[in-house]
Amino acid sequence: MEKHELKPARVVILISGGGTNLQTIIDQQEAGKLPITICAVISNRDDVQGIQRAQKHNIPVIVLEHNQFPSRESFDGRLQDIIDSQNPDIVVLAGFMRILTPDFTRHYEGKMINIHPSLLPHYQGLHTHRRVLEAGDLKHGATVHFVTAQLDGGPAIIQSSIEVEKSDSEESLKEKVLRQEHKIFPLAIRWLAEKRVVMREEKAFLDGEELAVGGVQFDKNEI
Ligand code: GRF
Repeated sequence: MEKHELKPARVVILISGGGTNLQTIIDQQEAGKLPITICAVISNRDDVQGIQRAQKHNIPVIVLEHNQFPSRESFDGRLQDIIDSQNPDIVVLAGFMRILTPDFTRHYEGKMINIHPSLLPHYQGLHTHRRVLEAGDLKHGATVHFVTAQLDGGPAIIQSSIEVEKSDSEESLKEKVLRQEHKIFPLAIRWLAEKRVVMREEKAFLDGEELAVGGVQFDKNEI
């Protein structure tokens, strides 16, 4: 079967915030550049801009507030039921700020991806821009990776780097890195939807080739 004859992949997107990555995915899908159907957007907060972004495009939104649950396990269990009711091929964490339980990550192994604002495996966890400035690094960036039980530790699919300038602040780095995120996230989603990228035994493969640590290095001229 030709690639363009593939049925669009069913995608569920999880958010916790402003949703600029979500917006990019919606825009590319609407422009016909992504072979996906966005079945639902799920937010763990009821007051974030990402919700309005989805609603504006008539995408069903489900709010599931984590603070209404007695434990991480109970929240993740309910979240899993809701996601599975959409029968997704791909689960996208687009700024979803929750640590996930191992049962949950195992359940979506190979079909859940996350975007992280650093050049993984460097700077897993929070406050990446601040830590890069404190360390005096000359390079920074963003990485899309498969989600495994290890926080920000699953195999990388693609990353894009930026130069850190002397004049940079946390805020300016955030903006620069977000611009790169908006380029690489849709690309990784497309590869996953086209089944060009897969995860096997905690390693990522693109077109059958095992990817190096950090994944594909995004070349600005490539697209
Ligand atoms: C991004 O920096 C992403 O890397 C991180 O959360 C932020 C989400 O931004 N995981 P937005 O909500 O997509 O604007």
